[in-house]
Amino acid sequence: MSKVLIATEKPFAPLAISKIKTVLDNAGFQMVLLEKYTSKEVLFEAVSDVDAIIIRSDKITKEVIAAAKNLKIVVRAGAGYDNVDLAAATEAGVVVMNTPGQNSNAVAELAIGMMIFMARGGFNGKAGTELRGKTLGIHAYGNVGRYVAKIAQGIGMEVFAFDPFLDKESIEKDGVKALDSVESLYESSQYISLHIPANDKTKRSINYKLLSKMPEPAVLVNTARKEVVNEEELIKLMDDRSDFTYISDIAPDNADIFAEKFSGRYFFTPKKMGAQTKEANVNAGVAAANQIVDFLKNGNTTFKVN
Ligand code: 3PG
Repeated sequence: MSKVLIATEKPFAPLAISKIKTVLDNAGFQMVLLEKYTSKEVLFEAVSDVDAIIIRSDKITKEVIAAAKNLKIVVRAGAGYDNVDLAAATEAGVVVMNTPGQNSNAVAELAIGMMIFMARGGFNGKAGTELRGKTLGIHAYGNVGRYVAKIAQGIGMEVFAFDPFLDKESIEKDGVKALDSVESLYESSQYISLHIPANDKTKRSINYKLLSKMPEPAVLVNTARKEVVNEEELIKLMDDRSDFTYISDIAPDNADIFAEKFSGRYFFTPKKMGAQTKEANVNAGVAAANQIVDFLKNGNTTFKVN
């Protein structure tokens, strides 16, 4: 009987767990649950005899893969797989998949919520501003970016996007203006919403030069990854420009400096919240379980990323 471990430091909603269990029960697989674990050792022990693992932002390192002797597949229930050592997985013959699109609406709603929060001064009781009529630049027009565009259009924002991997037509059919360069996106947008993955090309790429192009007042919204922002340069920019604010789904490494210097001009969620909805948990968790069943039973490798 195949054994599937759900290893989530940040647990899925109970409804998602029961739906995942139904999928695995129907396939004749055994589900093992490891939630809120606090040490690597506990994870090493839990993976030792499983065939498949479902994770969220949990780190699947070379060591975890080495400890999982029977492992055939890891599915990241979500979009970003920068938390998985793909080279180590490939070397060990382990398939890695994600579940693209399944939690995108949840992340997009949070991005818009963060814009409203900043526009209203963190709900501080003073006069704020509205999003209607303001410019929004969507940096990377993937699953999340598309949802953000649609909601922002409903609010009445003017929406621009830049995505080096898409042709203009596929963006402009949504009524979004596709810009030719990342520089022009930042030059055109009072709000920037980041939707780029964290990889060797993008890490620390959101830097002083780029951010300083944003018109006043500027709001940077990060529901992507903290690693894509060059924190030292963002801090320098916020020192130089009092109109600049930053809101991020998960605290940057230098959160204490923001607290010390930029009171009222930043907000960081205590835990990554973007995909933390019941709906997203169900969508991504069930998709992950179905993908595991289809791979182990039929060899289907759709959504393989390594
Ligand atoms: C993703 O990449 O799908 C999101 O960042 C969600 O991450 P989470 O599953 O840890 O909430």
